[in-house]
Amino acid sequence: MKITDALLGEHAVLYDLFGHLRDTAVSSGDIVEIHGAVTAVDRLLLPHARVEEDLLFPRLDSHLGQMGPLAVMRSEHHGIEDLLEAARRETDITSLKTLVGRLLEMVYGHFQKEEMVLFGMAQQALGDEVLSELGDEWAAARKVNLNAGGCASAGRG
Ligand SMILES: [Fe+2]
Ligand SMILES: [Fe+2]
Repeated sequence: MKITDALLGEHAVLYDLFGHLRDTAVSSGDIVEIHGAVTAVDRLLLPHARVEEDLLFPRLDSHLGQMGPLAVMRSEHHGIEDLLEAARRETDITSLKTLVGRLLEMVYGHFQKEEMVLFGMAQQALGDEVLSELGDEWAAARKVNLNAGGCASAGRG
């Protein structure tokens, strides 16, 4: 499996979590509940960004250069981390809701850029073979077993 497909699958799960955070921030008057939804996003989003930065981006640096789209992606990761940190510390519910709104705007925009632009560039620059190798590294990092039907295929070497 290509790493870009794996990352798109992670985006799908994260979109559900973003929706949950948005709904909670809109409807809840309980800051503890909103902080809980922020924490859930934090726990899943940061490892997602880390796997992009550790596995995919370094392989693209020599093709796309460290400036340009990769610089934008890395800087948005930092911006998202900063907003998550600010949301974790915020003690005023109105300010927290504002921060959540800014965070969601940034993450949706960031994911769209990856899906519409960056992953296509990765396909062009690296091709199926390298993306699949990186997919294996993604599976090892994420502790996912990609060998579905491994028993049936094991005998064929
Ligand atoms: Fe990203
Ligand atoms: Fe992503």
